[in-house]
Amino acid sequence: MGNRQPAVDNQVNSLPEFYLGKKVLVTGHTGFKGGWLTIWLKLMGAEVTGFGLPPETQPNLFTAAEVGDGMVSTFGDIRDLASVRKAFLQQNPDIVIHNAAQALVRRSYREPVETYATNVMGTVHVLEAARTTPSVRSVVVVTSDKCYENHEWARGYEEGDAMGGHDPYSSSKGAAELVTAAYRRSFCSGDGAAAIASARAGNVIGGGDWSEDRLIPDMVRGISSNTPIVIRRPEAVRPWQYVLEPLSGYLLLGQKLYQDGGRYAQAWNFGPSVDDSIPVVDIAARVCAIWGKGDLRIQPDPNAPHETTHLRLNCAKSSQYLGWCQRLRLAQALEWTVDWYRAFYEGSSLSPRAMTERQIHAYMQASAS
Ligand SMILES: NC(=O)c1ccc[n+]([C@@H]2O[C@H](COP(=O)([O-])OP(=O)(O)OC[C@H]3O[C@@H](n4cnc5c(N)ncnc54)[C@H](O)[C@@H]3O)[C@@H](O)[C@H]2O)c1
Repeated sequence: MGNRQPAVDNQVNSLPEFYLGKKVLVTGHTGFKGGWLTIWLKLMGAEVTGFGLPPETQPNLFTAAEVGDGMVSTFGDIRDLASVRKAFLQQNPDIVIHNAAQALVRRSYREPVETYATNVMGTVHVLEAARTTPSVRSVVVVTSDKCYENHEWARGYEEGDAMGGHDPYSSSKGAAELVTAAYRRSFCSGDGAAAIASARAGNVIGGGDWSEDRLIPDMVRGISSNTPIVIRRPEAVRPWQYVLEPLSGYLLLGQKLYQDGGRYAQAWNFGPSVDDSIPVVDIAARVCAIWGKGDLRIQPDPNAPHETTHLRLNCAKSSQYLGWCQRLRLAQALEWTVDWYRAFYEGSSLSPRAMTERQIHAYMQASAS
């Protein structure tokens, strides 16, 4: 991106008008981020189709927040090109947000073949279906901050830094980035071609995540069952951010690609401010303080598989050229996250769906101020 474009203000407020009536295909709508994204899109009046595997955990956001209501929800596997094509042909989407993935680092050590098949070939299948579906104007491929070759730098990674990844998950996301760039260069220059961008976000927190081996879900399981919470990598620094922050970036990107594809068809970081990149142990202590309970056991595991210690993102480009910026500081993100789970476990009169919608409205209001 050249230097000619001026800095722009936060543009999240433009989303409802843009997405009203748009046909959006979300892969991975049965997961954590995909569930929030789907509910947000429906609130804005988009016509949403979802494609993902049935939810794996119990509880899960898809069931708890009735994500599948009022949409075409398909259970299918992105490793199967024919099924992916069918979902595209059924809806003829304007915009695709490809969010489905095997998203867990530790699981990728146990299941490397499945991880690469899903994250690399799955991305090929989604891009291939998008390429051959004339209605598609914009495609956002969700990868990860872990796509970068990690040098344990203190500085934030920038979009031009090299792709890499030590473990199967991280390298599968680096590879998905390379696939995305190759599809863009090879197939997306002519008239009517879809514009393709990739989005790299940090460690996301928010209500409704019950994945295995993630800090907040592990804590929620411990707190809700009064069992100890074991912290294995207390010193690891991660860029923590509230779930709607990267989702607002994906939505903005989908809009910009649709309206002015060529300029935005590239890679974008969506991470928190540097102050919000803090160690796991500090997050854990703050969650316990907000909830008012939680039995933390710090037990570093010398035999744990390799995971990076330092990981930060530089998001100057997204802020300057997309008008994207972080709205919630970490303290507020943690409070909203705990509020969501407390409502779920402590019998609030608000249903998980209502709680999710309430937080989306509050986030939009925070973006307006
Ligand atoms: N949660 C985070 O902190 C985080 C951080 C950076 C990037 N990401 C990326 O964001 C995206 C969503 O992550 P999440 O946290 O919601 O993960 P999640 O595990 O909650 O959801 C993953 C989704 O992908 C679907 N999926 C997995 N394998 C599939 C397959 N073979 N076919 C079809 N669908 C399949 C699942 O059914 C689910 O809907 C992923 O691409 C992930 O890599 C997540």
